[in-house]
Amino acid sequence: DKGNHRHFMAKEIHEQPEVVGHTLASLVRFDTDEIELPELPFDFAEIPRLTISACGTAYYAGLVAKYWFERWARLPVEVDIASELRYRDAVLDEGGVSLFISQSGETADTLATLRHCREHGQKIISVVNVTESSIARESDLVLPTLAGPEIGVASTKAFTAQLTVLACLAIAAGKARGVIDEAREKELVGALNEVPRHMATLLRDEVPYEEIGHALSKADDVLYLGRGQNFPLAMEGALKLKEISYIHAEGYAAGELKHGPIALIDEKMPVIVIAPRDGLFDKTVSNMQEVAARGGQIILISDAESGEAGCALDGLLHVPPVDPFVAPLVYAIPIQLIAYHTATLMGTDVDQPRNLAKSVTVE
Ligand code: M6R
Repeated sequence: DKGNHRHFMAKEIHEQPEVVGHTLASLVRFDTDEIELPELPFDFAEIPRLTISACGTAYYAGLVAKYWFERWARLPVEVDIASELRYRDAVLDEGGVSLFISQSGETADTLATLRHCREHGQKIISVVNVTESSIARESDLVLPTLAGPEIGVASTKAFTAQLTVLACLAIAAGKARGVIDEAREKELVGALNEVPRHMATLLRDEVPYEEIGHALSKADDVLYLGRGQNFPLAMEGALKLKEISYIHAEGYAAGELKHGPIALIDEKMPVIVIAPRDGLFDKTVSNMQEVAARGGQIILISDAESGEAGCALDGLLHVPPVDPFVAPLVYAIPIQLIAYHTATLMGTDVDQPRNLAKSVTVE
């Protein structure tokens, strides 16, 4: 049932404040704001590193998590595309921990990689949406995302639910490793608690996204840029656009612009920049200026005002100011809405895009 939405994808985008709220409520003690996880089959204080593996959007959630685990738990993290880890001669130290992320819990490459890691003596934890799935069954511990059924082929609410679980896990790891104290934990959990409200604010007005959709629907190629923990989001934004609008899009780390993709920039090339006003904002601003100097069209997603961009913008998608820790969760909404409105204007089958299946159970 799509409710009063035109597509399942729209419904699922709009469910995110609730889904993130529910998922958080399952991991946070409401009275003390402390993270409360089920008993882990290992001790975060004792593991040398964490190996994360997944496919597609779930892989991008893993990449965001790497920034969180490193920043807040000082835990070395490796993130791999499941089909790569599986066939690579990866070094998996005995007693190590492998984390798998999957909405369906049935993705063939992720499942095969899980088995491969188990055979190499890894403890297996998974973040899955379908708890009666193969990946869930074969894990030592399952941390469920409470997203409810996701019907749209393009993953939306499962992604933000995955980020929610991973953020809580990173906080728990930080505590176990003595990197964060109770006060810091409260602060981070406080920032997470604000996410549903920020998401709801963004979802109240989709007109700006329709306008951007009009501009993008005429483009052949789109470049997405982000830095730090928002770099994986740039790749996720590009993936969403490719999947449902069939427009070629690439997500790049803003700092990589000069190392190649800048050659693509001309007046016909929209560049979408994800740049919250955080410690990396000025760096990204200089990348935007490089794009502007070459006539590229710039669409900025930020809490900054247009005057702070230092160059003319073709669009500004305004996001409320948020704690930088939770920016990937909140900025997921604009990138999903951009893809959704571009695709609906182009008349594609948003829920069932060509050539794609919801669950990829073959290699
Ligand atoms: O069910 P999974 O999370 O394991 O699926 C992984 C990918 O196939 C999935 O995220 C895919 O990339 C989506 N279509 C992205 O929107």
